[in-house]
Formats: sequence, C-alpha cells, structure tokens
Amino acid sequence: APDPDFSSRLIAWQKQHGRHGLPWQQSHEAYRVWLSEIMLQQTQVTAVIPYYQRFLSSFPTVFALAAAPVEEVMEHWSGLGYYTRARNLHQCAKQVVEKYQGQFPADPALLQELPGIGRSTAAAITAFSYGTVAAILDGNVKRVLARVFAIDGYPGSKPVEDQMWKLAQALLPAQDIQAYTQGLMDMGATLCVRSSPKCPQCPFLDRCQAYAQGRTAELPERKPK
Ligand code: ADE
Repeated sequence: APDPDFSSRLIAWQKQHGRHGLPWQQSHEAYRVWLSEIMLQQTQVTAVIPYYQRFLSSFPTVFALAAAPVEEVMEHWSGLGYYTRARNLHQCAKQVVEKYQGQFPADPALLQELPGIGRSTAAAITAFSYGTVAAILDGNVKRVLARVFAIDGYPGSKPVEDQMWKLAQALLPAQDIQAYTQGLMDMGATLCVRSSPKCPQCPFLDRCQAYAQGRTAELPERKPK
C-alpha cells in the first residue's frame, strides 16, 4: 500500500471513537449486513434502527423475505422512504434464494449484479460479512477523500469519481478491513461532516490537505449548475 499511515490511523480512530454496538454490528450474517446496508443507503442510523429490528422479527431469513408477498414487504418499509429500495430488496432476496440457495456470494462482483446493490454497497457487505478486502465509495467517503487529499472537481462527475475509486482502492489495508470500512463511514458521518467539520478531533488533522489550505468549506466541490 502506498500510504499505510492512512489506514493505520483510521483503524485506530475507529476502535477508539467510531460507532460500536449498532444492531447490525452484532452479527456478520450476510443477510443482516445486506439488509442494514440497503436501509442505511439514504437514511440516517437513528431512523433505521427500529425499522431494521421490526423487519428482522418479521423476516428473520432471506427465505422468509423471498417468500413474503411484496405488499407485506412494502408495509414494513413504510415511512423509510425511497421505496425502490424495498422493491429491489424483495427481488434481491428472491434471486439469492433461486441462484445462490439463500447464500449471499462473498465475491463483490457477483453481489453487484443483484438488484439494489451497487459497487460500494457490494464492497461493504462483503467486508462486513466475509472480511473481503474491497473499497467503498459513498457520499461520506468522497468527502473524507476530497479533503484529506485535496481533490478538486465535483465527485459526482465521472473523471473525479474514477480518480476517487482508484485512490480508495490504493488505500485499502491488508488487515482489519471491517474496522477500516466502518471507520471511513463513521468519520464521514460524525467528524468530516459537510458544514462545521470537527477538525480538532480528526486523526488526519496534521496531514489533511484541505485543512492545511483552509479549504474544508470548499471541498468536496458542489454540483456545478
Ligand atoms: N451507512 C452505510 N452503511 C453504514 C454502516 N454500516 N454504519 C453506519 N452508517 C452506514
């Protein structure tokens, strides 16, 4: 790895200051990890918790979810928003049962072909459930990378996103992928937030290029109009 300092600091920070004890961190079961990652895609942790618990009580396995009528799945999702997620969730459960005998694949490339699972979600699921070393890149991670490495340009544009995927890939640690992945998510959600980031508490304060340049408010760049 070209920058082992990045992953070692992040892992140490996660172990001390990251979020622990969330309901979906109690188990590495791929079904539970998958369900939590889909719910967390566009919804805050505090809103997801009660839904996650009710959902698991009603659909304890991928087989139970696949066998349920779609109307019942939608009722359990009601209030979480972004309802395409619920339809894809149900379709995905059916495919995992039919194609993979109810076992979620450990290969992110295979997971990514399932409904509702993009490249980053596939990597998060395999990292948390199987320990597979794969890069994530969501809005929170883009913000951390844009600032620590002072990456200019709108991260939603193809060239900047490609550059960030390459960086995210190059930064991966060989060990401790779970703490590393959760650390990236937690840094972006709790410290390296869009406005008023908590820079004094950041493990990268002394090497953050945006901070050094006084540009944390400008990076990442916003969508051009
Ligand atoms: N957002 C997406 N995945 C998450 C996770 N596992 N924990 C907290 N926030 C998340």
